[in-house]
Amino acid sequence: MSQNQISKPHQPRAQWKSPMGFILAALGSAVGLGNIWRFSYLCYENGGGAFLIPYFIALIVVGIPLMILELGLGHKMRGSAPMSFAKVGRDWEWCGWWAVNCAMYGIMLYYSVIIAWCLSYVFFATDLAWGSDPNNFFFNEFLQISSGPTRMGDIRTSIIFALMGVWGLCWFIVYFGVQKGVERANKIFMPLLFVLISVLIIWSVNLKGAHVGLAVYLKPNFELLKTPKIWIDAFSQIFFTLSLAFGIMITYASYLPRKADIVKDAYMISLGNALFSFLAGFAVFGTLGYMSVTLNVPVAEVVKESIGLAFVTYPQAISLMPGFARAFGVMFFLSLVIAGLSSAVSLIEAFSAAIIDKFHYERKTVVSIVCLTGFLGSIVFTAKSGLYWVDIVDHFITHYGLVIIGILECFIIGWIFKAKKLREHINQHAQKDRLSILWDIAIRYVIPLVLLILLTHDIIKEISSPYEGYPWAALIGIGQHWLGIALIAALFVSMRPWKKELHETEQHD
Ligand code: PHE
Repeated sequence: MSQNQISKPHQPRAQWKSPMGFILAALGSAVGLGNIWRFSYLCYENGGGAFLIPYFIALIVVGIPLMILELGLGHKMRGSAPMSFAKVGRDWEWCGWWAVNCAMYGIMLYYSVIIAWCLSYVFFATDLAWGSDPNNFFFNEFLQISSGPTRMGDIRTSIIFALMGVWGLCWFIVYFGVQKGVERANKIFMPLLFVLISVLIIWSVNLKGAHVGLAVYLKPNFELLKTPKIWIDAFSQIFFTLSLAFGIMITYASYLPRKADIVKDAYMISLGNALFSFLAGFAVFGTLGYMSVTLNVPVAEVVKESIGLAFVTYPQAISLMPGFARAFGVMFFLSLVIAGLSSAVSLIEAFSAAIIDKFHYERKTVVSIVCLTGFLGSIVFTAKSGLYWVDIVDHFITHYGLVIIGILECFIIGWIFKAKKLREHINQHAQKDRLSILWDIAIRYVIPLVLLILLTHDIIKEISSPYEGYPWAALIGIGQHWLGIALIAALFVSMRPWKKELHETEQHD
């Protein structure tokens, strides 16, 4: 970097143009593939309606309090995750880096590939390219899946083109910054997504037999609540769906003006996101009901592979539709693409902002390098073993990485910084709903305890039966190493000096 750039006067931090712009961007991050693809397959796997109970409990016990913590922290410290933690104490900076590393080089690498699959499917839908056997089409023709995670096979060039498109779009949006890029894009994406999904819901619930699927969706099977799996799935889904523990909400809140009502914003984002998932479930289960009646098989048998719900079952349902099947297909996959893109943008922004905060490089350079390396990194997921890798990395990051980072966040803010101090800051600008001491209790005791129990359960389960029966070599080599490398990189970067002394940019209020 030239001397010139270093001595440039300090630029004021970017800010959202309007409160609504911030809510839409945060919702854009929260509402993603997780709400349609992940939420519905988890519901399906965990007995439909039964899943909604732990889901809402997790939302209230962990989701909303942590959302308030992250928004409050970013707002108070006016910094990305590493900067915010570093301001609590230099010893904690690594935790922020670990979060954004997991976001960018963990989630985003495979998330972009799934968006690329969806983008390809938008085109496939125009002529129902999957033919009469969507299962064979997805696994054998499109992915050309190998026999296991350790058999990588070569790279699927057709997916790379779509992947390039996805990274190119993300780059284009984040490149232009907070107001002109992220905020503007979300102001287009979110209303569009809302319209698309509303049409899909109305369409699906009016299909013949939709009520059969909806009954499965809404009728809880209380027996399943006794299995730990449903609870673990629900809690890790809450982290994933609310984009928590990735440093994203911290970063987005750092662009808020001083007078922001964090509590109200956190409620709007968390509840808006849950409502979206809940409603999207109607479209998915209505369609499953239609399939079940048309093919004369029980709903429980319609989907063979839960992860293939979007790419196998949906195409099959689309092909069965009496009219406008192609339009339905294009709309379904387009909504996945849009939902995915607005989340992808937030993952890139959280990481880029962290680099910019620490090293004061120019945004455009940082974003370009981040997107280029991200694109190159994501190519591993386009190999023939890609689907297994997606599955393993997703499992390790959402079940372990995020839960551990969640515990660390609670510890650092609850005990080191002191929950009370952050609560007082948040309450300064809270208008209607003010936080009570209950929030401190949640952050200091309840959430860490719940997360610790889940983590222990998960580890015991993992040891007794390796995830999905994958070989240990693959689970450790891919999943655990991914987390470990993200951690080592975090420790390394956090030892580097800050370009500007931290207190120079600290906000006093
Ligand atoms: N919340 C997004 C979803 O539900 C996924 C996501 C995770 C986005 C983490 C950003 C960060 O799909």
